Amino acid sequence: MDFLKNYAEFVEQEIKNLELPSSPIDLYDPLKYFLAIGGKRIRPILTLMSGELFGLKKEDVINGALAIEFLHNFSLIHDDIMDKAPLRRGFETVHEKWNQDVAILAGDVLMIKAYQCLAKQQGDLKKLMDAFNQSAIEICEGQQFDMEFETKESVSISEYIEMIRLKTSVLLGCALKLGAIAADASKVDSDLIYNFGVNIGISFQIQDDILDLYGNPATFGKQIG
Ligand code: IPE
Ligand code: IPE
Ligand code: MG
Repeated sequence: MDFLKNYAEFVEQEIKNLELPSSPIDLYDPLKYFLAIGGKRIRPILTLMSGELFGLKKEDVINGALAIEFLHNFSLIHDDIMDKAPLRRGFETVHEKWNQDVAILAGDVLMIKAYQCLAKQQGDLKKLMDAFNQSAIEICEGQQFDMEFETKESVSISEYIEMIRLKTSVLLGCALKLGAIAADASKVDSDLIYNFGVNIGISFQIQDDILDLYGNPATFGKQIG
């Protein structure tokens, strides 16, 4: 797994290099806090690997990779409010450490930061934006289904799979697709690698949901149940 560590360190360094303002302190401190408490960085790593697969260097796709990671982190900050979650990555969630209003705004600004990064990504910007926007909207759709399912008497397996495809999996697909688009890969290849990512994402979320029931909070980093 050493090669994965190299990608993760590269992403981590790029995040550290971001120059975020210091004021207003209660806008930027929560952002810095959340970005500093880690995370596996699996989605930006997928963008870097996909870019390389289609002939680019990882430096050529770092902006797309950061855009994906910021969109993901924005969705987590807001998801933790919705789920009333006290812990994330083994640390207090933003709404716990500060408050809900601060967490909403920190999430909002992170989402805009994601677009700033995407706008700097080389490649066909319209195609990059279309892929990114599609997934960003689908995450919200999936989150809404997830909330609705909390009070439903029964949820079928296909309804569950569709919900997790939207809220989680499309972003892994998009992470890979951005690398392909940046490298000007064919539509066929971009779609194939997107579908590959969606399938990884579905298995990823199933595992996360199993851990949410049976995991060890010390290693899972989130409250279970
Ligand atoms: C958490 O994703 C949200 C889910 C889709 C399960 P990750 O497990 O990738 O979160 P981090 O970024 O590594 O903390
Ligand atoms: C994943 O949903 C979060 C998003 C896709 C926004 P969950 O609520 O299942 O994920 P965790 O368990 O909080 O990471
Ligand atoms: Mg949650």
